[in-house]
Amino acid sequence: MTLSIQPLDPVSRPFFGGEVSGIDITRPLTADEAMSIEKGMDQYGVLVFHGQKFTDEAQLAFSRNFGPLEEASGDLNWGKARRIESAYVNDISNLDNDNKVLAADDRKRLFSLGNRLWHSDSSFKAVPAKYSLLSARSIPTAGGNTEFADMRAAYDTLDDDLKAEIQDLVCEHSQLYSRASIGFSDFTDEDRVRFEPVLQKLVRTHPSTGRKSLFLASHAGAIIGWPVPEARAMLRDLIEHATQRKFVYAHEWKQWDLVVWDNQATMHRARPFDPKEVRDMHRTTVGCLQSTMEQAQAA
Ligand code: OGA
Ligand code: MN
Repeated sequence: MTLSIQPLDPVSRPFFGGEVSGIDITRPLTADEAMSIEKGMDQYGVLVFHGQKFTDEAQLAFSRNFGPLEEASGDLNWGKARRIESAYVNDISNLDNDNKVLAADDRKRLFSLGNRLWHSDSSFKAVPAKYSLLSARSIPTAGGNTEFADMRAAYDTLDDDLKAEIQDLVCEHSQLYSRASIGFSDFTDEDRVRFEPVLQKLVRTHPSTGRKSLFLASHAGAIIGWPVPEARAMLRDLIEHATQRKFVYAHEWKQWDLVVWDNQATMHRARPFDPKEVRDMHRTTVGCLQSTMEQAQAA
């Protein structure tokens, strides 16, 4: 077996979304294999691996090839009893701590519906996410796709005036904004402190490819120095532009798929499925090394 990476859609999106074959990533990788995968990530932004029967331990070990891991502190369960033991595995499921499907009106479930909005993982943390690695442990019989949008292509296709206008803009990101936009406000005082807005550049430069992309997310709720309605209208326009179907790859999950995406170059969103069915996905997250503000200063 030799590692090979092919575009998922060679005709309409030859540079976005790759399918990897010829490698078992549940066992330790060689440095060369890890480097080839990282190069594939730089090229495609999203990589799909099929048939990878991960345990959490093996998924954590694979993820560490790409940098230090981020704690799973973005959900309402942080600091409380969790279904998943490791503090570095995000529970992207509709299950409670006894592995029962959450009730339709469960607070955790309603909060997690925020994933249906286009976002980049952990943009609400001062140092946001580099890669997210999502392992499909159990999937519903229909629906539940994940969609990915290419934020490099989105940036490249803006007109020059708009590129100049947004080049130095800084946004505030918070989960309080994204949840407010779907009418979820059931936060404790502690959650509100943990989810205080952080600053992120609107245009970011990828640390390894040097390509520019739009750093957008449902979490972005303000632009520094702009009136809020004007900022929100601008952010909506940009998200609408960036998520045109020509920039989007829709992943239809099979059990034991692992999908890795580069949050520095993409946005993603979950699609709906029957809430009575089980969907159990485990996500590990590699952190960036700096905030986008620090990256811009260092450049
Ligand atoms: C995530 C996420 C989307 C999905 O894991 O970060 O947004 O389809 N998931 O579950
Ligand atoms: Mn996400």
